[in-house]
Amino acid sequence: MLSSRLPDALRYRLYRSSALLGLAVVTASLGGACGDDVTDGSGGEGGASSSSSSSVGGAGGEAGGSEAYDWGLPPGYPKPRVPADNPMSAAKVELGRRLFYDTRLSGNQTQSCASCHEQALAFTDGLAVSVGSTGEQTPRSSMSTVNTGYLSSLTWANSNLSSIAIESGLLLETQAMVPLFGEDPVELGLSGMDEVMLERLRAEPVYQAAFPAAFPDESDPFSLQSVLYALAAFQRSILSYRSAYDRYNYGGDPTALSASALRGRELFFGERLECFHCHGGFNFSDSVAHEGTTFDEVMFHNNGLYNVGGTGDYPEDNTGLYELTGVPSDMGRFRAPSLRNIALTAPYMHDGSIATLSEVLDHYAAGGRTIETGPYAGDGSQNPYKSELIAGFTLTEEERADVLAFLESLTDEALLTDPRWSNPWKE
Ligand code: HEC
Ligand code: HEC
Repeated sequence: MLSSRLPDALRYRLYRSSALLGLAVVTASLGGACGDDVTDGSGGEGGASSSSSSSVGGAGGEAGGSEAYDWGLPPGYPKPRVPADNPMSAAKVELGRRLFYDTRLSGNQTQSCASCHEQALAFTDGLAVSVGSTGEQTPRSSMSTVNTGYLSSLTWANSNLSSIAIESGLLLETQAMVPLFGEDPVELGLSGMDEVMLERLRAEPVYQAAFPAAFPDESDPFSLQSVLYALAAFQRSILSYRSAYDRYNYGGDPTALSASALRGRELFFGERLECFHCHGGFNFSDSVAHEGTTFDEVMFHNNGLYNVGGTGDYPEDNTGLYELTGVPSDMGRFRAPSLRNIALTAPYMHDGSIATLSEVLDHYAAGGRTIETGPYAGDGSQNPYKSELIAGFTLTEEERADVLAFLESLTDEALLTDPRWSNPWKE
């Protein structure tokens, strides 16, 4: 197993597959994917295919899963894949919503998932790097939990996650173990406290009805697996499909995008800026999977953010894929995040080191970022491991405004206050 070769300090970011298989998904059917040969939706505009009836895991997914559940999506918009072992239901999503906002899910009962994934900020936290329940900083910036059901790989650079996902589809189910139980850094701080957490949950009257409703077939529905499965079902339900761009692209409303945003769209999807190669498809990322895909694309790129000492290095605590593989060319390679709601999720990049979208454009226009002084000094445009797609370009002031207008058109205002995903404990 890849994880056994890694220093302890790095393990928190892994899916901890062995622990997972023992603990969380004992009953999971780890069957492979099946289905029609449908091409991947990434790499172009609106490239999603929703024509296929294939789904991961087969039977379970069909029977109780995605077909029966109302995603609320408009026609033409792909549905997330649902693992056979964890079909969607309204009761499970509602339980997951309760748990997502429940501070009993942290050791000292100060934080919940929502502390770092706030609805008003498209489920990010507005910080460069997050702060856990005991005050420890994470090395990386919080990511949006919107549209995570479409991702073929989770977090900024964890290739290890995806191999399990491909087998079982239980990507979100397992990822939650990292914030819950991780010790380096501590996020929710529940290491060794799973029973304590379950006792807390059992004592809550709301849960005494909600757990059995969500897991009617379980003799004891109060289990860690139930918590993980309900959290995953809730996260799968959080979908962004009502931005101006969506109204234009899927909703048949030609007036939804301004003239400036339309020009920006041309630039974004054009060969001068090259953005779409890595941020393409309906989810604006090239690591995407949905009901209509059978091939899981998992991509990582170095976009020239650093070149410490001129040797291509990234800061020690954030070397990207290299951290897992030790392969030199994996230095600084991260997943291209979705750009949906990007105007709301500043600061940017894996370490929150770029403050604004305009500065992000400066970074790409220069073909990489130059840091003049300090421990991370170096010219990122000369990073030997940089993707060849980050070649630099010039933009007029009008073009810059156009690209920004396009990026802003990806903001889904309805998502930010949708009661389906808000804090249920406040109702
Ligand atoms: C202390 C802040 C914090 C808390 C609490 C927290 N997260 Fe996160 N979350 C993060 C950070 C930081 C990342 C990026 C991690 C990385 O790349 O190493 C992240 C990443 C994720 C991702 C990956 C998203 C993507 O696009 O790949 C998911 C899903 C997620 N968190 C779900 C949860 C859930 C569920 C909980 C509660 C059980 C939770 N988080 C609690 C900070 C937090
Ligand atoms: C070679 C692939 C690639 C290309 C081309 C590319 N990006 Fe990125 N983008 C990435 C990766 C990888 C990251 C994350 C890098 C990191 O954190 O170190 C990223 C990060 C971003 C972010 C920050 C996301 C966040 O959540 O913090 C924005 C905004 C962005 N890119 C916009 C663009 C735009 C606009 C273009 C075109 C000018 C573009 N990208 C071209 C791969 C790419």
